[in-house]
Amino acid sequence: MVGLQWGDEGKGKVVDYLAGQYDAVARFNGGSNAGHTVVIGERRHTFHLIPSGALKGKDLLIGAGVVVDPVVLGEELSLLPDGVKRKLMVDGRCSLVSPMDKQLDAVLEEMKGSSAIGTTKRGIGPAYAARALRLSPRVSDLMRGFDFAAMVRFYEKLSVNPQGLIAWSEESKRLLGSLLGSASDRITEINERGGNVLFEGSQGTLLDLLHGSYPFVTGTHTIASYIPASLGIPPSAAGEPLGVMKCYATRVGSGPFPTEVTGPVADNIRSIGNEYGATTGRPRRIGWLDLVALRYSIALNGVKKVAVSKLDVLSQVKEFKACVAYKYQGSESADFQGSLAHLEEVEPVYESPLSLHGSRYDNGLPEEGKKLVGYLEEELRVNVSLVSHGEERSKTIEL
Ligand code: IMP
Ligand code: MG
Repeated sequence: MVGLQWGDEGKGKVVDYLAGQYDAVARFNGGSNAGHTVVIGERRHTFHLIPSGALKGKDLLIGAGVVVDPVVLGEELSLLPDGVKRKLMVDGRCSLVSPMDKQLDAVLEEMKGSSAIGTTKRGIGPAYAARALRLSPRVSDLMRGFDFAAMVRFYEKLSVNPQGLIAWSEESKRLLGSLLGSASDRITEINERGGNVLFEGSQGTLLDLLHGSYPFVTGTHTIASYIPASLGIPPSAAGEPLGVMKCYATRVGSGPFPTEVTGPVADNIRSIGNEYGATTGRPRRIGWLDLVALRYSIALNGVKKVAVSKLDVLSQVKEFKACVAYKYQGSESADFQGSLAHLEEVEPVYESPLSLHGSRYDNGLPEEGKKLVGYLEEELRVNVSLVSHGEERSKTIEL
């Protein structure tokens, strides 16, 4: 499962809903920058590192390509039933997010001034960078006893204070000792006995380090082709991707956003849709559905099946607009990719083929919803397999 936009497509809810059909749920990218919210009746939990299948009692795997912040992991476990910890395995090959990575994230943002990315300040970019520099310990290195000398010297050169590192390392060892394992071995085992695993992506395709709107992206990969690399399984074992999309668009942080709207229309959608970051609380930027961007994401991931979320939000909004092309220097194109300048300059070409205003979902998918599904299936050449019309688990329609 991958996000097809800029994150916050409703992935947490979809994972929770589908997890019943799987033996295990595995996170394969990002770290505690993710905020996947699951709502069951009165109960609401936002997952940052733990896979969103936790409330369905599934085996929970964190793959090698995830950067693990033991402090956040400990906090998250303390909010969940005891049984969750027994189900959780963290791959020994995961890199850790150290206290210095979080400081460096803030320092870098400040240095960038007006070109800051608007990161979540969770230390994600620095932790992936420290891995590429071969400076930081993996979970398994920490358990064996890691010599932090070189890493400390490096951060001190950047004026980042390593204070508290020893205590952090001891506490991390205590937490991670019982969780350590091999996600790839576990997935192979599950597959051999005919079971299956749901791979839970975080962030969205357009935030991918290589294929997103660089430099306004996250520090790693958010696309389906990262699933086998991260988890240490062959590409053939990664299965069919499911894309998750919202029926409008949002983005947190800086960077190009061709269909962005501001003013009362945006404020209205933000307030109805509760579009505030689940990790940082920041108001999300709001935009209309962008079919150009979605076609790009769908092609990149090889998605044939999608889940569409938040129909209930547009049922309370009079307007519906979909961007069908970009206008750039006088001519229309359907090409998302290009330079940053290109994405910043393009003018969206809109159509308003339908409205969801006033639609109700008590008796299944109403006519307006069916029209949207038909429109998306035709425009995006995918099958819509799931529709969500509210954050509660029960407000889901399988098609
Ligand atoms: P970072 O991942 O904290 O480095 O942030 C890089 C960019 O990705 C910023 O624009 C963040 O707002 C965005 N981002 C990171 N994680 C998420 C997420 O889970 N949902 C939405 N945006 C995210
Ligand atoms: Mg989120």
